[in-house]
Amino acid sequence: MTTGNFWNLNQGPAIIRTVAVLLVAFLAMSYEIQGGMLAMLPHVMKPTAWLAFALFIMAFTASSIQILFPGSYGRWAMKNRRYIGLSFALVHFVHAGLVLSNLALTDATRTVGELSGGGLAYVFLGLMALTSNNASVRKLGAKNWKRLHKIGSYYIWLIFVARSLGELPGNLPSGGVIAVIGLTALMFRISAWRKLRK
Ligand code: HEM
Repeated sequence: MTTGNFWNLNQGPAIIRTVAVLLVAFLAMSYEIQGGMLAMLPHVMKPTAWLAFALFIMAFTASSIQILFPGSYGRWAMKNRRYIGLSFALVHFVHAGLVLSNLALTDATRTVGELSGGGLAYVFLGLMALTSNNASVRKLGAKNWKRLHKIGSYYIWLIFVARSLGELPGNLPSGGVIAVIGLTALMFRISAWRKLRK
């Protein structure tokens, strides 16, 4: 770890540790306050999805923000992108665990379409998390690795945005916020790509 101000730091694993501690504290507090697993479930599924979305957007926009608005934040996000992505995977797999518990323990149901669309996002997320290390980049080759992470992240982006748009206006304001931030992130990526091509 280097010295310097916060944005200069390569914080790597500390990001995952902080996210894991916050997540466990949030779930333990909800368990206590709501008085058990069953009562807690309806209160924790959305917040875990929001935290996952925030981390996803940080990883998804890291390079475009640095290209469009070079500065301390973009440099920090680029340096720590792998760990931000792994933190996203951790939180989002917890979201999946909560959703599955809710399906198993309550009479909530989901269509096969919903389960398979979301399930494929988890297949990509699992592959991306497992290959987020230098050995996998060498093994797959930089081109294939990039392809996997690009397709995976756009698919996950699509599920976030499509899910939020699809449930409007019933899920306002959170669904609207997710859709607007998601579409803005895509515009950043397109603008950065166009800037690099010039
Ligand atoms: C495997 C299938 C999945 C199922 C069955 C599922 C189910 C759920 C449920 C039950 C909630 C809570 C809704 C509520 O409290 O009203 C939720 C929230 C959410 N999920 Fe999942 N989920 C799945 C996968 C995913 C995936 C893959 C993503 C994104 C890539 C995602 C993104 C979200 C978001 C953004 C919310 C919060 C929505 C809001 O606040 O309006 N989910 N999900």
